[in-house]
Amino acid sequence: MSDDRQGEDSAVSHHWYDKTILRNPISLIGLALAVVAFVNIIFLFLIDVLASNPSPYIGILAYMVGPAFLILGLLLTLFGTIVERRRRLHAVGLMPHLPHIDLNQPAQRSTIAFLLSFVVMFALISAVGSYKAYEFTDSVDFCGELCHSVMHPEFAAYQASPHARVACVDCHVGSGASWYVKSKLSGIRQVYYTARGTFPRPIPTPVHNLRPASQTCEQCHWPKKFWGAQLKSFTHFGNDEQNTPRVIRMLIKTGGGDPNLGQSGEGIHSHMNINARVTYFASDEQRQVIPWVRIEDKNGKVTEYLAKDSGLTQAQVDKADKRRMDCIDCHNRPTHIYVPPDLSVDRALAGHAIDASLPFIRQQSVEALTADYETGEQAQKAIAEKLLKFYQDKYPQIASSKADSIKAAISEVQRIYGTTFFPTMKVNWKTHPNNIGHLYYPGCFRCHDGNHVSKDGKVISKDCNSCHTVLEQQESGTQVASMPVQPFKHPVDIGDLNAVNCSDCHTGGTSP
Ligand code: HEC
Ligand code: HEC
Ligand code: HEC
Ligand code: HEC
Ligand code: HEC
Ligand code: HEC
Repeated sequence: MSDDRQGEDSAVSHHWYDKTILRNPISLIGLALAVVAFVNIIFLFLIDVLASNPSPYIGILAYMVGPAFLILGLLLTLFGTIVERRRRLHAVGLMPHLPHIDLNQPAQRSTIAFLLSFVVMFALISAVGSYKAYEFTDSVDFCGELCHSVMHPEFAAYQASPHARVACVDCHVGSGASWYVKSKLSGIRQVYYTARGTFPRPIPTPVHNLRPASQTCEQCHWPKKFWGAQLKSFTHFGNDEQNTPRVIRMLIKTGGGDPNLGQSGEGIHSHMNINARVTYFASDEQRQVIPWVRIEDKNGKVTEYLAKDSGLTQAQVDKADKRRMDCIDCHNRPTHIYVPPDLSVDRALAGHAIDASLPFIRQQSVEALTADYETGEQAQKAIAEKLLKFYQDKYPQIASSKADSIKAAISEVQRIYGTTFFPTMKVNWKTHPNNIGHLYYPGCFRCHDGNHVSKDGKVISKDCNSCHTVLEQQESGTQVASMPVQPFKHPVDIGDLNAVNCSDCHTGGTSP
């Protein structure tokens, strides 16, 4: 090519295009930038494709920063040629309005061939690039790891949940362009807050503009799926010296069902999703206090329930911001589950990660977890010190004979702290209540508290057998109750179970 141009230079050196219009400082800088960006994109792309576990930063460089510089470079080049053309036009007065294109000139032919192939290449690469950028900004790496400090609690809880292999965007964005754009716009705002460090700690829940469950959860979970009654086993340990094990097995009446398949549509799911529409409003930000509920059955019959102690007038009810109940109102923690400390310790004991023969280990572990700590490191240190000291002071013999068990218990309690407490983001089990059940949080009892009454005196049921049936209950391995048993036998006498709110005492922490 340079040979051609030399030949031409001598022949038509007087003509304006003897020096290509690209030869101006702005365009040259632009071109250099574009070439460097291009080479980098190819290089990063290869790393992204070939490396087995590339860092999420590779993606942001290859598909966002790189192309931005490439486009900037090309724009600069274009800008330079415009400025240069103007300049030459002024200086020589010869510049025609539009350049002559003469395909008989070998130099012009190769320039145009070069330009055309460049445009085609660029179009192809941008197509692949934008697809990769789209894929990348939808990846779990992008959502969960790039903003690591901010999303750390959500990401950590997610990884230990039933949805650990479901991408964040499947629940938070879903399909379709409009929600993609919406989420990226809100993402830009979040990046801005993150850069300034002004994001809220913790990130508040509920997410008010979460996409409706019918467009996310229900893409995977068929709402009419028939679950029937499911057996669930709960294992707890007492706060006594023996860490008394207590097992409850119950059938949870999840139900569901499609009438077209001959299933009557019963149980927990049927009422909410299939055979009725429930609407409610909450008087607090976290939707934990629900004074008013309305249910419309499939025949259009409407019943309204008002909490007896709410003191609300009809006008206030009419004005309130109402919400149609969907999956999220019960399953608000399908994946970001911040397990209460006493449940975490129960699980560790049940799974033998903590030795249940260590006296008071259940109570001591929960106490160690729930003390006030400023930072994660401080917590880790204090947990080890507290547990060691307890056995050295109270059970010196065990401290030496079971030193290994104590060491293992300490590292397990530290692990629990690391995966369920997030002091930097101020997140723990108390900041993010779970609405399934009623032991540690109000949950189902937000409405099923026996206190929500309709005008004609109907009450939203708190009957212990309406949602589940106890099959068996054990204490220290001996049966205290078995089929057919009703009701649940509370380990200590607290009077009428129907008259209490479990979460008043069972806070998930040290009491009880
Ligand atoms: C199975 C569905 C699902 C997946 C997968 C999922 N989320 Fe969520 N996420 C939810 C729901 C449901 C909520 C809470 C909704 C509510 O209470 O309003 C939520 C809430 C959040 C919140 C607000 C704070 C909170 O804990 O309530 C953040 C931040 C968040 N998710 C980030 C992520 C990130 C990052 C990922 C991927 C690593 C992810 N989510 C994956 C369903 C999901
Ligand atoms: C991309 C598909 C997908 C989406 C979207 C999805 N899930 Fe799931 N979900 C699954 C799969 C797969 C499982 C089964 C996991 C297993 O058993 O290992 C599951 C399990 C569950 C379970 C049972 C959990 C347990 O303890 O075993 C619940 C409850 C649930 N999902 C609710 C939801 C809710 C609520 C949403 C919307 C916020 C949602 N899912 C969105 C795929 C999905
Ligand atoms: C009224 C509250 C409520 C609503 C609304 C609700 N669920 Fe459930 N769901 C439950 C309860 C309670 C269980 C029993 C499981 C448990 O106790 O953990 C359950 C069980 C499930 C399971 C099976 C979990 C397992 O343990 O195998 C899936 C999946 C599920 N729900 C998905 C959904 C989806 C999808 C929606 C929305 C269409 C929905 N649920 C609406 C309360 C509800
Ligand atoms: C927003 C209020 C609200 C919440 C929260 C709620 N429910 Fe309900 N539930 C109702 C209403 C209203 C009815 C219908 C009462 C009627 O028959 O008119 C109902 C009925 C039921 C029924 C049928 C009861 C029967 O005797 O036929 C079951 C089962 C049920 N709910 C389970 C649950 C479970 C499990 C949870 C917690 C995961 C829960 N509900 C949370 C409002 C709620
Ligand atoms: C509106 C439905 C509903 C009613 C009414 C209800 N429960 Fe439950 N209960 C549940 C659900 C759902 C779970 C399962 C929670 C889970 O999967 O973690 C549960 C779990 C339990 C557990 C096991 C908790 C654990 O983690 O060990 C006990 C015990 C229990 N219920 C006792 C009772 C008693 C006693 C009553 C009557 C005062 C009652 N329930 C009324 C829905 C209900
Ligand atoms: C007045 C306070 C109080 C109320 C209300 C209460 N409990 Fe308890 N609960 C206790 C005490 C105290 C223990 C025994 C703790 C121990 O032995 O370490 C206990 C133990 C339990 C246990 C055995 C597991 C464990 O952690 O030791 C279960 C299950 C249980 N309660 C369920 C319920 C249910 C379900 C309700 C609501 C219907 C309820 N409790 C209401 C005080 C209460």
